[in-house]
Amino acid sequence: MSRTMILLLLLLRSLAAGHPPAAATPRLKLTFPELRARHGLRLFSLERSCCYEALLLDEERGRLFAGAQNHLLSLALDDINQRNRKIYWPAPVEWREECNWAGKDITTECMNFVKILHPYNRTHLYACGTGAFHPVCAFVEAGQHAEEPIFKLDPRHTEDGKGKSPYDPRHTAASVLVGEELYSGVATDLMGRDFTIFRSLGRRPSIRTEQHDSRWLNEPKFVAVFWVPESEDPDDDKIYFFFRETAVERQQGLGKTSFARIGQICRNDMGGQRSLVNKWTTFLKARLVCAVPGPDGADTHFNELRDVFLLQTRDKRNPLVYAIFSTSSSVFQGSAVCVYTMADIRRAFLGPFAHKEGPNYQWVSYQGRVPYPRPGMCPSKTFGTFGSTKDFPDEVIQFARHHPLMYNPVLPHGQRPLFLQAAVPYTFTRIAVDRVTAADGHYDVLFIGTDVGTVLKVVSVPKESWHHMEPLLLEELQVFQDASPITSLQLSSKRHQLYAGSTTALAQLPLHRCGAYGKACAECCLARDPYCAWDGTTCTRYVPNTKRRFRRQDVRNGDPNVLCSEDPRRGSVPQKQLYGVEGSTAFLECVPKSLQAHVLWTYQRTLDDPQREVQMDERVVRTERGVLLRSVQRADAGLYLCHATEHGFTQPLLRLSLEVISAWQAAGMAPAGDPQLTAGAPGRKVWYQDFLQLVERPPLGATDKVCQRLRSRGRPPPPPRTHAGPPGRGQGEEPRKARRRRTHEGPRAERGPRSASPW
Ligand SMILES: *[C@@H]1O[C@H](CO)[C@@H](O)[C@H](O)[C@H]1NC(C)=O
Repeated sequence: MSRTMILLLLLLRSLAAGHPPAAATPRLKLTFPELRARHGLRLFSLERSCCYEALLLDEERGRLFAGAQNHLLSLALDDINQRNRKIYWPAPVEWREECNWAGKDITTECMNFVKILHPYNRTHLYACGTGAFHPVCAFVEAGQHAEEPIFKLDPRHTEDGKGKSPYDPRHTAASVLVGEELYSGVATDLMGRDFTIFRSLGRRPSIRTEQHDSRWLNEPKFVAVFWVPESEDPDDDKIYFFFRETAVERQQGLGKTSFARIGQICRNDMGGQRSLVNKWTTFLKARLVCAVPGPDGADTHFNELRDVFLLQTRDKRNPLVYAIFSTSSSVFQGSAVCVYTMADIRRAFLGPFAHKEGPNYQWVSYQGRVPYPRPGMCPSKTFGTFGSTKDFPDEVIQFARHHPLMYNPVLPHGQRPLFLQAAVPYTFTRIAVDRVTAADGHYDVLFIGTDVGTVLKVVSVPKESWHHMEPLLLEELQVFQDASPITSLQLSSKRHQLYAGSTTALAQLPLHRCGAYGKACAECCLARDPYCAWDGTTCTRYVPNTKRRFRRQDVRNGDPNVLCSEDPRRGSVPQKQLYGVEGSTAFLECVPKSLQAHVLWTYQRTLDDPQREVQMDERVVRTERGVLLRSVQRADAGLYLCHATEHGFTQPLLRLSLEVISAWQAAGMAPAGDPQLTAGAPGRKVWYQDFLQLVERPPLGATDKVCQRLRSRGRPPPPPRTHAGPPGRGQGEEPRKARRRRTHEGPRAERGPRSASPW
């Protein structure tokens, strides 16, 4: 058995031991055409361009800035198709020719792919692109207010983008702009071999990482960079770099392994005086672990860091770090979301240093004396007398140079992934998180982009306590028709919109579609979407602090028994009449809105008979959309009730009254001259299906004919297809009955609810 198989088995075993299932089913799945037609999905794309990789959301200007191939875009946040502006920013012809001579493809590589976009000052943005393997940056004038229609770039005033943008369009770079200085993690050479964490722009000298030292950086792929204050004193400010790299501490013989890392530097690092001149003296890195604990320490690791989202909290010093990972294995594929606290990150940097005595030694925890000030500390009043890193004693600089790696990794909150998907045909690529105020507290709603053009919407709710969170996969949304990977994701809490970029287009979509959960209070409540609440008549957006009498929401428990008992429409169930032809097939269709609901069928011959669960066998077959009755018998006639069970709650969805007619009766009903309805026509055995469709979805006029024929045969006409009549007396009984039935076994020989239904 291969190692991967063992890992997979261990993962499945540990998952079986009470962890979330390996592949969660979304409660609701919406296709691209549905989203476009009914849920306000908007798309934007340029002709002869691609690759919408850099997105910058600007709430104050009300703009979404985007970088694409040879273009910069300024789009309206409210509607990306309105009032948009663009700047054409190609690479000069000479650079493109050079790029082509170097053996690169003129149409796919020798272009200016805009990769970096940051707010610079009140009037300008800073943008960088690959410039046909000749990185280039520029200031972009964007105006001060939403009303100012300015968007320009002066092509004569561009700057060298080396150390800021990658050369190769396939490579990524990550950066943050703080106080007119750019901190970036990027390859600084054409071959993409010399990687650096680099500070540029601004007035201070540029600073970088030690070159050609695999202990510092080892083939890193930078994912994200953030600035996080550490105290009230700006001298303690730190910049955190998230990346993945080939693990140096991995034991030899186990092959190349990628590890996820978090790196830190001080914002006021000025480099060393005698050594590490213009190099970081405060650089430290630690491993970020995202793993499912297995039995006997055989954890399943998600090592390929893909994206990081920093969720700001009320305390600026303590944002929450949401990171997504995938596995490195080609056999076992899975993705996970892990959450880290700043406290855990800081603890790792204050822990022991990793140490390696020489080439043939193992990495161990350093036990010797650590010089003062401790490497990684910023020179500030908080820790004593050092005004600048240039004043640090030599032994501190030497220690820092040889010990950039921490021994302890950073473990995720709760010691395991918050959400994971294994055994699905996609990987997570991007994440954005919204902290939502609901009736019963705050919830973090995760939007996860995948490599097949979909977005997953996940909310994490406390299971027993706020320390034990459970993820709910609310929606799977196909936002791009062509299933291209999502390469950028941004959200606006203020405008309630999500923006996604891919190779082919940009998409805009509201954060919620409450109406899609259903028309009943129970459906709205079971969805447990913190954006939505039942307002007495529909499932609509929940707005906190509005004093509306009828606002029903319970994200934490999602219990309709408590919330929906006053729903006036409770107990009214849509009804349908169905005719089956003896010896042929009948299909009882019933599809719950929620893909997570379990469908249960009960049967009673007449209203006075007890309800029994429908037993499936060779003749009665459960399908995805209902129950198929093969070779219908006279005894099948009766009342069928379709129930959905979800989250321990059972609700009736549909009543079907099946009447069985014999083949000769059905044949006699065929309108003369219609070959489709003539039983005798050879090879047209399926005619009765068309007939059933006529009964179920009558085209205007068509039913009248059929009904008349039915009547003329002495049969009663089908009941009028009302959705839900006004609730009659005695119907109020039903919800309470359903409540008692909060088990998966469903109603046994229990006496069915009596109701004033048409039968
Ligand atoms: C912003 O930066 C640009 C480029 O350096 C400069 O031309 C402009 O005057 C600055 N604007 C403000 C308001 O400082």
